[in-house]
Amino acid sequence: MKVNRLSNVLGAEVTGIDVSKIDDAIFYAIHEAFLEHLIIVFRDQDLDPEPHIEFSQRFGEVEVHLATDHLHPDTDKVMLVSNKQVDGHYIGAVSAGDYWHSDLSCQARPNLASFLHAKELPAEGGDTGFCNQYAALETLPDDLRQQIDGRNGIHTFNRMRNPRVKVPEMHKDDAKMRYADRAPPDGIHPIVRTHPETGRKALYVSHRFTVGIENMPDEESRPILDAIFEHQLNGELIYRHKWRLGDLVMWDNRCTTHHAYGGIPAGQIRHMHRTSLIGDVPF
Ligand code: SIN
Repeated sequence: MKVNRLSNVLGAEVTGIDVSKIDDAIFYAIHEAFLEHLIIVFRDQDLDPEPHIEFSQRFGEVEVHLATDHLHPDTDKVMLVSNKQVDGHYIGAVSAGDYWHSDLSCQARPNLASFLHAKELPAEGGDTGFCNQYAALETLPDDLRQQIDGRNGIHTFNRMRNPRVKVPEMHKDDAKMRYADRAPPDGIHPIVRTHPETGRKALYVSHRFTVGIENMPDEESRPILDAIFEHQLNGELIYRHKWRLGDLVMWDNRCTTHHAYGGIPAGQIRHMHRTSLIGDVPF
């Protein structure tokens, strides 16, 4: 197994292994690399849902995504992130990742990690950006850091309550069912969270899910969140992944955010399988 850095800020590529055939020693090495590099790209994998789930489960318990209409037909533990249509209906989540986020931070126990596997790719577009939230916190200006000290962010699944995001055109008619009715109670989490395994501190807010700061009027929290979001978009904190067929990318939701850049030409397919793990209550 070889581990090569993919950027100065986060991400490493692992080659020379088939993740469906690893022993405990390799798992231990991967786990170490994961905590060090925050996202790991395994090249040249060809995983059916079962080995994809089994590999994910080495790191924790796989969660069934709350968007139940996007699940794989053979197993509810794999979600389809796909623009493929069957009989005129999209079979997977098309807009997943359209805004920067950490997976399901709107839940009481947000996702620990996610594993996205490229099954079909377009000739261009479809990149995913990953942002290092340890580094985002370390480089946050002091005045902003002071304003969020000891504060909790309010995270919602409901796009209609978030002025920073849009409801995708294709979901205009079923937006209430899709975003409001499905939304769990708001996730209330420290804006600076402590990674339970590394002990390091990371920023834990995002455009997609964070709509306010607990016990702070919106007029006051809005400019603070806007400034943090702008800071997170600093290119030096981001690695942009250009997918290759067979890539399996795993990311740590406790210290990174990610975003699907889109830009897929009309008529081209991007079809991915995704698992996510149940995480801890952030502290
Ligand atoms: C996601 O946000 O889970 C999907 C990211 C992607 O499709 O690139």
